[in-house]
Amino acid sequence: MAAMAKYRNIVILTGAGVSAESGIDTFRDAGGLWEKHRVEDVATPEAFARDPNLVLRFYDMRREAIQTKVPNAAHLALGRLDAEWRGGLLIVTQNVDDLHERGGARRVLHMHGEHLNAWCLACDRRPRWTGPLIDRPPCPACGSRALRPDVVWFGEVPYRMDEIHAALREADLFVSIGTSGAVYPAAGFVRAARELGADTLELNLERSKGSAWFAETRLGPATELVPDWVDEVLTSMA
Ligand code: APR
Repeated sequence: MAAMAKYRNIVILTGAGVSAESGIDTFRDAGGLWEKHRVEDVATPEAFARDPNLVLRFYDMRREAIQTKVPNAAHLALGRLDAEWRGGLLIVTQNVDDLHERGGARRVLHMHGEHLNAWCLACDRRPRWTGPLIDRPPCPACGSRALRPDVVWFGEVPYRMDEIHAALREADLFVSIGTSGAVYPAAGFVRAARELGADTLELNLERSKGSAWFAETRLGPATELVPDWVDEVLTSMA
């Protein structure tokens, strides 16, 4: 990787692999979520219309589970980067857990939503939510019983895409951590960043579907690769 000192604006994309060592299942690895549950049954608007109880129970289970997990060394290292990096930084995460924030990161954008928010389909507010939704609790703002998980389902548009593209236009370094590159539009960010002139680095357990687009790929667990990379970046700043 070229001399780190020249970077000003970094965009980091993270996926389920960054939370795997905190005990949160990834989606497509062996034993992953999509082996245990059919996407069509739990992660589409059609599934929610067809069998809302099945969908709400699935997300109630996940919302409860993530609150028992703790940030790992990769989350903590990115929290340190966010605190000490004086340049531009945006951590775009596909993850719906709150481990980046509990790891100390602030410049985080959840493009697929958040488990710990509910979304009221009556008043469009997104109240913080840590409990179950299966019993159709009333929206704290409008009282309607129209809350759903604030998670972007397949076939729905990810959040804050304008901000992500604006950050990619400014970025001189794009780093991808713990994602398989199987899902668009996130899987297309590396190509966009590269075509806009940014350097590109992949940190992953195995090569992703988009590996060919990265100038450099480092293979290994996030809890080892990310702290080392953050040390490199912060040392270059000194
Ligand atoms: N350290 C680093 N990388 C890891 C680790 C680890 N400990 N464990 C797994 N990985 C890598 C895997 O090699 C794989 O490439 O993380 C990736 C996880 O891929 P997926 O399970 O496909 O998860 P992700 O890429 O985040 O999925 C994208 O798909 O299901 C939808 O909306 C959901 O946000 C999700 C999107």
